[in-house]
Amino acid sequence: MIETPAAIVVRPSRDTDVESMLAIYRRHIRRGIEEGVEDTGTPQPDDLKDRRKNLRNRKLPHLVATLRGEVVGYAYVVSFRKRPAYRFTVKHSIYVHHDHQGQGVGRLLMQALIDACAASGFRQMIGYIDAENTASLTLHERFGFARVGLLPGVAYRYGKWSDSVMVQRSLGAGATAPVTSKAGPPAP
Ligand SMILES: CC(C)(COP(=O)(O)OP(=O)(O)OC[C@H]1O[C@@H](n2cnc3c(N)ncnc32)[C@H](O)[C@@H]1OP(=O)(O)O)[C@@H](O)C(=O)NCCC(=O)NCCS
Repeated sequence: MIETPAAIVVRPSRDTDVESMLAIYRRHIRRGIEEGVEDTGTPQPDDLKDRRKNLRNRKLPHLVATLRGEVVGYAYVVSFRKRPAYRFTVKHSIYVHHDHQGQGVGRLLMQALIDACAASGFRQMIGYIDAENTASLTLHERFGFARVGLLPGVAYRYGKWSDSVMVQRSLGAGATAPVTSKAGPPAP
């Protein structure tokens, strides 16, 4: 069990956090680029600002963790699929700054993301994790995500094919109760 520094604060992200979030993201994919994976998917600051605006309009949580005012991690969800039937299901991502891993930041972000998604009325969270990413697989297991699928050979990085593990967790009543109010998340 990790002692979480009390100074870590999790809050909704702001436009002024965008550069810090991109720096964290770029660092995580840099190794892939050096190995020859094209960087065409790297978001630019304006892309991220637009995405944050869209997410906010749709009640999709987009959070940062800060330590002494500096962004040390972030987590967000997007629609699992665009068709309206899937509007209660989200797909999440979580990234912690390489200098601050193993210090409880991911745990705080994950708890806050789950709480925020449940509060927005979402019923299912889905994640895709590289099959060799032990830290992420363990983190998700700790938070009650079940392994619901294995997608063999879907990623090519470090010069080899990698499998992805699909994980899922229900929120609130999950699939055990119908939707009774119109107050759920807006359709994508
Ligand atoms: C995966 C990641 C988000 C975890 O965040 P973190 O801040 O390092 O994790 P924490 O310190 O909060 O640890 C939370 C739990 O994760 C698990 N964990 C974290 N690091 C681990 C490691 N190296 N090995 C095994 N389990 C680990 C543990 O279960 C831990 O809780 P416990 O010690 O109480 O059991 C972080 O390592 C990261 O950003 N990795 C790179 C990006 C990434 O892979 N994102 C996920 C994509 S699906």
